[in-house]
Amino acid sequence: MIAVTGATGYMGSFLLPRLVARDEAVRCLVRPGTDAAALVRIGAEIARGDLEEPAAVAAALRDARVVLHLAHIRYAPAVLAGVGAGVERLVLVSSLRRFSRVADASVAAVTAGEDAVLASALPWVLVRPSMIYGPGDDRNISRLAARLRRRGTLPIPGSGRHLHQPVHVDDVVAGLLAAAEVQGIEGCSYALAGAAPLTYDELVDAVGAAIGVVPRKIHLPVWLVLWGLAIADWFGLEPGIGRSQVLRLQEEKEYSIAAAQGDLGYAPLAFAAGLARIYGE
Ligand SMILES: NC(=O)c1ccc[n+]([C@@H]2O[C@H](COP(=O)([O-])OP(=O)(O)OC[C@H]3O[C@@H](n4cnc5c(N)ncnc54)[C@H](OP(=O)(O)O)[C@@H]3O)[C@@H](O)[C@H]2O)c1
Repeated sequence: MIAVTGATGYMGSFLLPRLVARDEAVRCLVRPGTDAAALVRIGAEIARGDLEEPAAVAAALRDARVVLHLAHIRYAPAVLAGVGAGVERLVLVSSLRRFSRVADASVAAVTAGEDAVLASALPWVLVRPSMIYGPGDDRNISRLAARLRRRGTLPIPGSGRHLHQPVHVDDVVAGLLAAAEVQGIEGCSYALAGAAPLTYDELVDAVGAAIGVVPRKIHLPVWLVLWGLAIADWFGLEPGIGRSQVLRLQEEKEYSIAAAQGDLGYAPLAFAAGLARIYGE
């Protein structure tokens, strides 16, 4: 049996149909109150429980051969404690945010979750996606596309020349499935990023090209944006972007995917090809 956490999330909605098509039962740990109808429809078993409740986690995971932990990596300690002695593979989804130098609570939570995994003797594999995009509301590129369609103009904090390496959700799912299956990779970690990095300006232009809009990019000095955010904060306003996000935009998010290519047969799409898969339809 394969047990999955976070199955009702964005990644889960792409992974689960592929998982249940295989010849093994799939059980999803779903919070009480979360709609699991789509999972039931495709034939997954539902175990109700919250990752904050150790007994519910153990009941859902105890007899699993493979555990895929898609919910946030901060729940790793509960998952590691909940699996049974017969578990053969535990794939945990973390994030390349792990390597951000912008110290904030989100980075600290990822680091703490990963530290618990690294200290475990269980047969774990860690996968770290970069920014994920795909069909529907990916909460990343889809929102940028919606903004460009609505306004055409995009204020960009900083030069727009820093690197990003977004990954299509289909590639993350393929990497995750391989991480669950490939033998002899216990204790390994894999960056799951796109085929190649591109600057933020190139990223915006590529999204514009995919939806038939020529973006008007307005670069703003980082100090000015941070100053504006501080003023907004003082007035109790919520500007839709946070200080950490602004600072992370200035980081080089360029990652080696060589380990995943070598061990998992990982072959991600180039960004333009990924966009064409979504917006070219
Ligand atoms: N999206 C990205 O760009 C990105 C990038 C890098 C890494 N990641 C990582 O990839 C993983 C999947 O991302 P995603 O975008 O699919 O996430 P998501 O859409 O936010 O889904 C999160 C899932 O975790 C479940 N969950 C949250 N708290 C829970 C709890 N206390 N008990 C049980 N279940 C709980 C949610 O259940 P409910 O439906 O009940 O809320 C949902 O199924 C996450 O670990 C995320 O950190 C994502």
